[in-house]
Amino acid sequence: METLEVALEERSYPIHIGPGLLDQEGLLPPFIKQKKVMVVSNETVAPLYLSRLCENLARGGISAHSVILPDGERYKTWETLNLIFDALLTERCERNTVLIALGGGVIGDMGGFAAACYQRGMPFIQVPTTLLSQVDSSVGGKTAINHPMGKNMIGAFYQPKLVLADISTLDTLPDRELKAGLAEVIKYGLIRDPEFFDWLEVNLEKLLARDQAALVYAVRRSCANKAEVVAADERESGERALLNLGHTFGHAIETGMGYGEWLHGEAVSAGTLIAAELSRALGWIEAATVTRIERIFVRAGLPVHGPALGVERYVALMSHDKKVQDGKLRLVLLQGIGKAVVSDVATPEQIAAAITARCTDTGTG
Ligand code: NAD
Ligand code: GLY
Repeated sequence: METLEVALEERSYPIHIGPGLLDQEGLLPPFIKQKKVMVVSNETVAPLYLSRLCENLARGGISAHSVILPDGERYKTWETLNLIFDALLTERCERNTVLIALGGGVIGDMGGFAAACYQRGMPFIQVPTTLLSQVDSSVGGKTAINHPMGKNMIGAFYQPKLVLADISTLDTLPDRELKAGLAEVIKYGLIRDPEFFDWLEVNLEKLLARDQAALVYAVRRSCANKAEVVAADERESGERALLNLGHTFGHAIETGMGYGEWLHGEAVSAGTLIAAELSRALGWIEAATVTRIERIFVRAGLPVHGPALGVERYVALMSHDKKVQDGKLRLVLLQGIGKAVVSDVATPEQIAAAITARCTDTGTG
């Protein structure tokens, strides 16, 4: 097991990464003072991992209740969130009861948001079970639900007490989800870690083949990047915005296509290529760099063209982006591999041209 820390003074917490952690004793109890937890999971993940988690907790003298949510991005809503509150109240959970989010990013984001709200804040633990949630969403305290008009529009910054990333849970992850997670892994190389990008170019097939050592390395290096960024800018007043490379376009794809049609990582992949194309049009990167970026996403089995929603629809959807400031759209763009910037210099015509060039896909992700 490897352990990293997210350094946020009194809100600091460890990220444990390794195989077999769900069964490893002694990792959870130090973070569960009240000896009672509410596990939030979904109908896909619970049959796979809930009983193992609960047995482990029981060995530590902790009683576990659970609430099992419907599975899918389209359920990341107020209605589903209320099911968590119903369960917390029914089981008379208190402010010190710990909530454990067991699942992918949807469960982590919703469980975290419920924990932030219940009795104005209860402790919570992330047990991410997808590659995407292990490398990104479980770390950093962004929690949210979707609104029909925009992705992750309702939420809170609320840090977990612990992240337990059991790499063995990735054994059961469908291929499409593994690939979607790779989009966020590649992102770290592109925005701030060029050596990692080189490593990914060499080792991508090992990741696709679920080589355990390669997966542990990729999760650790991704989390190390994310932990550094979050420690420096917890509430996204600066550097943290770079973690959203491809996301402004990607969120437009997810919302525009209907939540769940394109996976988050798929939309981020296509969105990153739009951002790369725009960076090229601004003269910041060479066409050869766009090709190099495209090649790694193609090798990962990810889409490199967005759906043909039409420029107007993209622009309308992007106007709800959380990086809009004083009505002006700020985008994460590239000045090289490993160097991202937040910029508002692109003109509406340049943004439209990049969307037109890259958004030609008439199918889904
Ligand atoms: P997800 O949570 O929908 O999980 C993907 C699918 O895999 C689901 O069907 C799930 O039930 C299933 N699954 C999960 N673990 C499994 C396992 N071990 N074996 C078999 N099936 C498993 O999707 P995701 O990609 O994990 O997360 C995407 C979400 O994360 C989006 O809502 C996105 O907005 C959010 N996100 C949040 C942040 C953040 O910082 N909070 C960052 C990135 C993404
Ligand atoms: N996934 C973007 C962030 O955590 O800031």
